[in-house]
Amino acid sequence: MEHSKRFERRAERAINRDSFIREWPETGLVIFNSPSDPDPGIRVNGGRITAMDGRPEAEFDMLDRFIARRAIDPAVAEEAMRLDSLAIARMLVDFHVPRAEAIRVVSGLTPAKIVQVVDKLNVVEMMMALQKMRARRTPSNQAHVTNKKENPALLAADAAEAVERGFSELETTVGISRYAPLNALAILIGSQTGRGSALTQCAVEESLGLRLAFLGLTTYAETLSVYGTEQAFRDGDDTPWSKAFLASAYASRGIKVRFTSGSGSEALMGHSEGKSMLYLETRCLMAIKGAGSQGVQNGSISCIALPESLPGGVRGVLAENLIAALLDLELASGNDAMASHSDIRKASKLMLQFLPGTDFIFSGYSSMPREDNLFGGGNFDAEDLDDYNVLQRDMLVDGGVRPVSAPEAAAVRRRAAHAVQAVFDELGLPPISDAEVEAAVAARASGDMPDRDMVADLAAVEEFLRLGRNGLDVIRALARRGFADIAEKILAVQRLRISGDYLQTSAVALPNGQVRSAVNDPNDYAGPGTGYHLSPERLAEISAIPQALEPAEIGIVDGSASRPWLRECHDACPGTDSSEIVIALGPAFGSALGATLLGLPHRDVLAALTGGIRAEGMRPRVVKIYATSDCGFIGHAGAQLSGSGVSIGIQSKGTTVIHRRDLQPLDNLELFPQAPNLTLESYRVIGRNAAKYAKGEPVLPVPTQIDNMARLKYIVKTTILHLRETEQVRKDKPAQEVQFA
Ligand code: 5AD
Ligand code: CA
Repeated sequence: MEHSKRFERRAERAINRDSFIREWPETGLVIFNSPSDPDPGIRVNGGRITAMDGRPEAEFDMLDRFIARRAIDPAVAEEAMRLDSLAIARMLVDFHVPRAEAIRVVSGLTPAKIVQVVDKLNVVEMMMALQKMRARRTPSNQAHVTNKKENPALLAADAAEAVERGFSELETTVGISRYAPLNALAILIGSQTGRGSALTQCAVEESLGLRLAFLGLTTYAETLSVYGTEQAFRDGDDTPWSKAFLASAYASRGIKVRFTSGSGSEALMGHSEGKSMLYLETRCLMAIKGAGSQGVQNGSISCIALPESLPGGVRGVLAENLIAALLDLELASGNDAMASHSDIRKASKLMLQFLPGTDFIFSGYSSMPREDNLFGGGNFDAEDLDDYNVLQRDMLVDGGVRPVSAPEAAAVRRRAAHAVQAVFDELGLPPISDAEVEAAVAARASGDMPDRDMVADLAAVEEFLRLGRNGLDVIRALARRGFADIAEKILAVQRLRISGDYLQTSAVALPNGQVRSAVNDPNDYAGPGTGYHLSPERLAEISAIPQALEPAEIGIVDGSASRPWLRECHDACPGTDSSEIVIALGPAFGSALGATLLGLPHRDVLAALTGGIRAEGMRPRVVKIYATSDCGFIGHAGAQLSGSGVSIGIQSKGTTVIHRRDLQPLDNLELFPQAPNLTLESYRVIGRNAAKYAKGEPVLPVPTQIDNMARLKYIVKTTILHLRETEQVRKDKPAQEVQFA
């Protein structure tokens, strides 16, 4: 094989640890348009769908039957199916067609037709359509909260910080399934500490999940999985009817429910029937719609790396998100499971949901480091939060989170950990020590937590369930132990279960005790100037990342601490001494500013320059230029005053030039434009070189480093230091003779 170091280096990149395959439609390893996908078609007789996508009623499988009976509106079907797929695709993108009209048309389409429609769109068009078609106007976000040690103090602290960071829903799960009630309890308490309001869920086996919800230890459920072929569905011991029944059981107690589906699961299980991933996912979504669910988490979810191995996989995942919205379902759009080794690829894929906005951009942002993510997820995790906040700020896009400072985070973490400690004590659960509480405040991950007595914890869980401990017990325990505020907030969320407001499509509970949903916050996007806009408060919130500096405070010198070391004596006159090298200082040097861009004190820089000049047997003379802040002109002005005709011009930020009397201002002997590359040693060599020029000796250029990051790192400070220097310019003030100590 040809040898190439560039190819070798690329082979080592993260992207090449991802798996890529060619299509294999016979096994369902294809995104769109498998040869086995049916052509769209419908027959309606007397208000009853009697054939769908090439199959007569007699040949319907269980999913066909469910979809035909419950997910397609026969009153719209014939009209909608007659429309050209391209015409429908254009309606989705055209903001003159209201969302409601698009929803109406799609309600009459079959799965094969819906796939054909979205396949007419490129990703930008899909994003435009998603921006218009998502259910809720205001986007939001969901977080995962788990840890390998199942530590309740850490769970509570992470939950509290996640809510402080703006996440509207928290999802936990377990490594050891019997821990479920304690994990649910810990995030319930954490979720209502601080700002409070988030809904919580615990993803476990279905009967236990339902039980936790009935007990008031969770407030929503999400992991009702659906598959697109009969066999894949049956493997889970399920049917669309059983899932619909389970969803109704949750809803009957005021528990919010969404289903889960996503491309690739049928191929993974070996039951794709040779159909494309998107066709099967569309069947899932229609089954979910037919089951009466208000929403879905999709976007391949746990299978994401499988569609991403295929051509068009990321587009296909966006398409499935869009189809969920077209079916008027609340959409939690994935981005949870690990999708790639490559940060570039992960961030690029995220943009497809982040930019248009979805109801929940992540169906699980890992609020802790991914090593503690028990969903096997963490595509974005705690360590990416600053990146995520910056993306919101860069694009002024609402990604559903807000920046939080370290002290704010510590405060809610500590309070949540103390609250769960108190509740454990009140309810007779194994103790949480003060050391555990403090460890939970500061921990990066569960590795920083002490080990718990798991045997005692698990024995306590059994007793906890046997006694039927519930949300009210937690509320009472909190109130008794000085956490009335948290108790009130948990009670407020329990009250919402009774009003049922958060059973509406795409509901989130707000810190003010209200609910925001597609009912009171419907997406009304209809082109520029409509739809969701950042409020001034929200704009300020996403802009205020803690690491943003106050520009007016950059480079300020505190003059009170040190005595001035530069003294201006009188107007400077042209020198006559041919051994004289003038050092011409910028107008802020050693006065309004005290150090270069790199932070080298001006005093040390001047000592290095004069030291270099003296080392060559020449005599330094220092003047300050007031007429200009431009480096070339400072040097040029200095050269006019220099007895030898040679000068060094230096700006306060450290940019330096060696100049000579006979040269044009913008010409020079040597220029050092990248101040961050200059060390004190460089300034010494600059002094020597200037002296050598004056003596007429051969000069080697000053060695400097190339740092391609210098401009990136220093451009803000450069701008501000230069601004301050320019503020000191006095056009008519002559150069001043300077003495320094
Ligand atoms: N289709 C259906 N269910 C899925 N889940 C994850 N990915 C998919 C998918 N593509 C389910 C898992 C588990 C929960 C995390 O979501 O089976 O119940
Ligand atoms: Ca989730």
